[in-house]
Amino acid sequence: MPSADEPFALIIFGASGDLTRRKLMPALWSLYAARTLPEPFAIVATARTGLSDDGFRRRMRETVDTFARLKVPSEGVWERFAAAVHYVAGDPADPALYAKLGAKLGELERGRSGAPANRLFYCATPPSLYDDIIANLGGAGLARPVPGGFTRLVVEKPFGRDWESARALGRQLAGAFAEEQVYRIDHYLGKETVQNILVFRFANGIFEPLWNRNHVAEVQVTVAESLGIETRGAYYEEAGALRDMMQNHLLQLLCLIAMEPPLSFDAGPVRDEKNKVMHAIRPLDPCRVEEAALRGQYGAGFAESRPVPGYRQEPGVAPRSATETYAALRLLVDNWRWAGVPFYLRTGKRLARRVSEIAIRFHRTPHSIFRRGPAVVEANTLVIRIQPDEGIALTVAAKTPGPDLRLAPVRLDFRYGEVFGGEPPEAYERLLLDAIHGDATLYARGDWVEEAWQLLGPVLESWAQEPGPALHAYEAGSWGPAEAEGFIARDGGAWRRP
Ligand code: NDP
Ligand code: BG6
Repeated sequence: MPSADEPFALIIFGASGDLTRRKLMPALWSLYAARTLPEPFAIVATARTGLSDDGFRRRMRETVDTFARLKVPSEGVWERFAAAVHYVAGDPADPALYAKLGAKLGELERGRSGAPANRLFYCATPPSLYDDIIANLGGAGLARPVPGGFTRLVVEKPFGRDWESARALGRQLAGAFAEEQVYRIDHYLGKETVQNILVFRFANGIFEPLWNRNHVAEVQVTVAESLGIETRGAYYEEAGALRDMMQNHLLQLLCLIAMEPPLSFDAGPVRDEKNKVMHAIRPLDPCRVEEAALRGQYGAGFAESRPVPGYRQEPGVAPRSATETYAALRLLVDNWRWAGVPFYLRTGKRLARRVSEIAIRFHRTPHSIFRRGPAVVEANTLVIRIQPDEGIALTVAAKTPGPDLRLAPVRLDFRYGEVFGGEPPEAYERLLLDAIHGDATLYARGDWVEEAWQLLGPVLESWAQEPGPALHAYEAGSWGPAEAEGFIARDGGAWRRP
């Protein structure tokens, strides 16, 4: 494993895109500003858009000012960072680009003679281009490590578009890269609050006795976004909410909640336990998909009091698109710990607000002794707030002050910001450093990814049919389709309003 001060080059494909703008570059800057980015480093950004080095650096400066956790303290510091950023224009499908990239890397690496050539390639394009990128990296000899250094490949989710394509992509990767060179990123695993799920569960003795079907009535995982699809129509049209969010981020969260304690917090044991959860999820019946899955698409509405267009009016979206921007699932984990406990997962764009949380609702008390209080006391709920307002809260019943015996739910609330101060580091900061240092613990493993596709296969097939199950409309700025309420009410439940 290279030490933290070894040089490296990060080569980003799709660098003119949303991921680079919103997440990667702000994370790289914050690592640099916090002096945690190994040096010397080079960032070689590539995409088809014609830009000069300076043109790209100017764009990145705006991006860093808007999205980075750490601000630019002075022009001098920015200039030093920007000098390490280079732009190579080209089409990732064109082998000629790889000759240019090879030459650029050679030039940068020759400038630091004697130091190892460590290279991290990053696929930040729409996933339909991964095949070309992998084939071209292999063809140009760029997949092979330069002696004395490492070469790694970070692949963004979704890895494939279904089980067959994920397997085919896996085989293609295996033809060019060794498995230990490949990092399948799921940035939710790098979020501080997501990492804290395991600490919370396995570094505190009091939760384990409650963490099972005897005490837990249901689990709700919500990843709601107020954003629409912005400039990402081309990518989103080929993905949709199920592939973009459910197959990766939400199923990973489910696994962290449902998994057994791993032997240690290391890549092998943690990933083994997550795989066992995937094996235990009851396969979805292709004939009864509508009982387990619901989809929706946003129409025009409001976001932060501004009128916003419907999905079909967004740039790059087909006027009759059937792509879902909202997805909900009901899953059961068939093992001794979780038998009979429903796991509800939902995600959507243009929802009422940006909030990601996991809510674990416990059984009610078997009997109320407070005859003059309410007949039904609210069940205890543990809410893990992933973002924003990161924290963990437990609702409990308490007596309100006064001569009458009145009960009210109160929250025992731990807020990251208050306790630790400041904002937690961005997920991409942690994950980029891990890939540079060769630690894959917080990356998804290939067999997990394939299991996730296999689980969703019946839904993908059903939703691909024409006419398929209903695509429910919802107003931008709402909490999703009204039909989602009926979906969960069948079990007697209701979605939370986080
Ligand atoms: P974008 O739609 O912004 O695409 C990225 C870039 O890819 C574009 O700027 C474009 O650059 C290039 N590109 C698009 N189509 C083609 C094409 N047909 N041929 C060659 N190049 C093309 O996508 P995102 O950046 O949003 O997403 C990229 C990946 O990152 C996806 O896998 C997504 O799941 C993942 N991701 C995105 C996140 C986000 O917040 N955006 C967060 C987490 C993961 P040019 O036209 O200049 O070549
Ligand atoms: C990405 C999706 O994986 O996650 C995007 O491609 C989504 O569509 C993003 O907006 C959400 O990430 P975060 O960290 O802002 O919740």
